[in-house]
This record gives sequence, structure tokens and C-alpha cells, in this order.
Amino acid sequence: MRDLVAETQLDVRQLVAPLFVREGIDEPQPILSLPGVVQHTRASLVQEVRELAALGVRAVILFGVPAQKDEVGSGAFDPRGIVQLALRDLSAEVGDRMVLMADLCVDEYTSHGHCGVLDGPAGDPHTSVDNDATLEIYARIAVAQADAGAHVVAPSGMMDGQVGVIRAALDGAGHRNTAILAYSAKYASGLYGPFRDAVDCAIVGGGDRKAYQQDWRNAREAMVEVRADIAEGADMVMVKPALSYLDIISAVKTAVDVPVAAYHVSGEYSMIKAAAANGWIDHDAVATEQLTAIRRAGADVILTYLTRWFAEHAAGGAR
Ligand code: PBG
Repeated sequence: MRDLVAETQLDVRQLVAPLFVREGIDEPQPILSLPGVVQHTRASLVQEVRELAALGVRAVILFGVPAQKDEVGSGAFDPRGIVQLALRDLSAEVGDRMVLMADLCVDEYTSHGHCGVLDGPAGDPHTSVDNDATLEIYARIAVAQADAGAHVVAPSGMMDGQVGVIRAALDGAGHRNTAILAYSAKYASGLYGPFRDAVDCAIVGGGDRKAYQQDWRNAREAMVEVRADIAEGADMVMVKPALSYLDIISAVKTAVDVPVAAYHVSGEYSMIKAAAANGWIDHDAVATEQLTAIRRAGADVILTYLTRWFAEHAAGGAR
């Protein structure tokens, strides 16, 4: 009877698995702060995505770890960059049954670790990210990713105007059917720590992203960002992280008519794993509770490192 009247369903078809692919390695590398998640080789990535497809997972989002970084993050738009190579592999192997998403940003690819190009020396307190110069780079990345087979590009850098520029670049290159999942309300969260280990990213000079990501004290500016992204052509909007921002997810769901995604980020995942490893919480119960809460708040889609676990152990299941 509880199932009969349950208001919220959690289904593997609504989950997206974030996956890391690293250039220049022969074996998958574990990520210490993200237990159970690895940096894939091109071959192990294809294998993983095949297995996810067999488990009923319908979507993945790729992050690249390049062998070389530079000032502008050129590995992100190089046709032979690691994510473009991985997308070509995947679109040939599983492109008919898996939605292929690509994170669109440069922080994994820049020597200074910021999400955009800088207007001065890295580490100097007067240096900023140059918003408009970064947009030109994002346009090139979008086209490179779509050329390589991405069905969805997901700009995560929080530059103003990024969605509009990317839409125009995609259309101009003939990629009218490539969708945009906008990381619209992305907070300058402390919960991205394990992710930065996963992509070997450190901000030069110990800086932060507070100049372009959102202030966790603010809710209303999330609505400004979401509405701007939709006006610029976003097909789906995202709130990130998820659990500390359930109020934002709920407000966005009420205010807009496009699908709403939420990113259950690396720190959220690792907190569950660490507490469960200590025997302090029940992993499966807490994981299910958290994902269900994100859906209850209004997320249509959840990006989560728990996707494979859910598909293997909980689909159809734990309540
Ligand atoms: C930026 C990006 C980040 C995450 C996804 N895309 C890191 C950041 O903004 O510092 C974090 C995801 C996570 O923590 O799981 N390319």
C-alpha cells in the first residue's frame, strides 16, 4: 500500500552517470576520494558504458583528463582531445542506445585550473576570468564535441552568455539537433573537492570560483540564471549541488517548463561512502533516501556517481 500511494518514483531512466576518461594511461586509475569511481582509459570507458547500457542506464556525461594543460585549455576543443576521441568511440559503439553528454568547460584543461581564460597572470589577486574571451573558447568546444558525436553539451563554467553563444555556434556548424543541458544554478560549493582530484585540477595560487559561481547565501539569483539560460536556448537546466539546494530545485521546477536536472556531486557521494565505510550509516538506505529527496524536490534528471550502484542493486527496489 505504501508503494501504491508513494508520490515519488526513482527510476534508472532518470539517472546520468558521470564518467572520467584520461589521456595517456594504460590501466584505469582509482580516485582515492571517490571510492568506486575511476579515471578510465578509452577502452575501459567503452566497456563501462556497454555494461551501463546492459543495466538499463540511458545517459552518461563525460569529463576529460588531458595529458597536457595550457593557458586556454586547448585540449578541450582539439578534435584529437581525449573527450572527442572518447565520444567517437562511444558513438560508434553505443551511440544508438545511450545519450552521450559532454561537460563543456576548461577547468580540467587549463594550467591555472580556472573555468575560463585569464586576463592577467595566474595567481595574481588582480587577475580575473575574461568572460567574453572564454565564450569564444566554449563555442569551439561545443562544435568539437558535437562533431565527435555528443548528443548533449553541458556548459558548466558559469560564464554570462554561454548558452546563447554555444547555441549559435552549434547551429552555425549544422548541429541543430544537439541539445544543451545548462549548469544554470551552480554554486561555489565546498562539495566539489573529490571531483577536482578526479580531474587533477588545482587552482593556481589557491584561488576559488566565487567570482563566477553562485553564492550559497542566495536563492533569487538562481532564478535569474535559469531564466537567462532558457532565453538563450537551454533545453534543460541544472541545479548543482543537489542536497544543500533542494529549495532551489523546487523553486526552479515550479517556475519553468523545461526539464530540471540536479547534480548529486562528488562530495555528496563521498560523504555517503566514507560514513558507510565507517559503519556510521547504512549506505543503501541513505543513498536511496538522498536520490529520492532530490526527485521529490522536483528534479526530473539526476547526475550521480550512484548510477551504477542504483542500476545494479536498487532499481525496482529499496524504499
Ligand atoms: C566544471 C565542473 C565541476 C564539476 C562538474 N563540472 C567542478 C567545479 O566547478 O569546480 C563538479 C562535479 C562534482 O563535484 O561531482 N567543469
